Amino acid sequence: MPRITVTVDGVTYEEEVEPRLLLVHLLRDRLGKTGTPVGCDTSNCGACTVMLDGRSAKSCSVLAVQADGSDVVTIEGLARGDEWHPMQKAFHTEHALQCGYCTPGMIMAAIDLLRDDPDPSEEAVREGLEGNLCRCTGYCNIVRAVRLAAQEMAQAGERREVRTP
Ligand code: FES
Ligand code: FES
Repeated sequence: MPRITVTVDGVTYEEEVEPRLLLVHLLRDRLGKTGTPVGCDTSNCGACTVMLDGRSAKSCSVLAVQADGSDVVTIEGLARGDEWHPMQKAFHTEHALQCGYCTPGMIMAAIDLLRDDPDPSEEAVREGLEGNLCRCTGYCNIVRAVRLAAQEMAQAGERREVRTP
């Protein structure tokens, strides 16, 4: 079996993996990163979104072997100690979740969106997150949260990159 080295939330792992193993299953079943959920079987919902070498990726559409040598950040690696990432804070402030199933992926995708557009309009947020589905919220509070995070990050002069602990 192929042997891969992958860093996840700041910890480097060496794993033997079947060539067909998906990254999301490596994260959840082998590394215990159950904060990254699986919401579909079709690469549609975005619930499984993580950062792969600094950009968002649906971890159900990436093979574990493709992540060899990569740096992965999951929702579990976003906070710095007790300090939430501004996007996490904004989702909390704006009540941008109900069941929370979509939230990890939504937050990761939103952070990536702000990398390309640090001050997105409502329309740009909706367009940027179109790969992430939410069955509960109607999206209004999610859009508000992303724009709040953008404002707060801009006010803090912060173009905060996702970094591992
Ligand atoms: S579980 Fe990956 S897109 Fe739905
Ligand atoms: S909060 Fe339930 S799916 Fe989005």
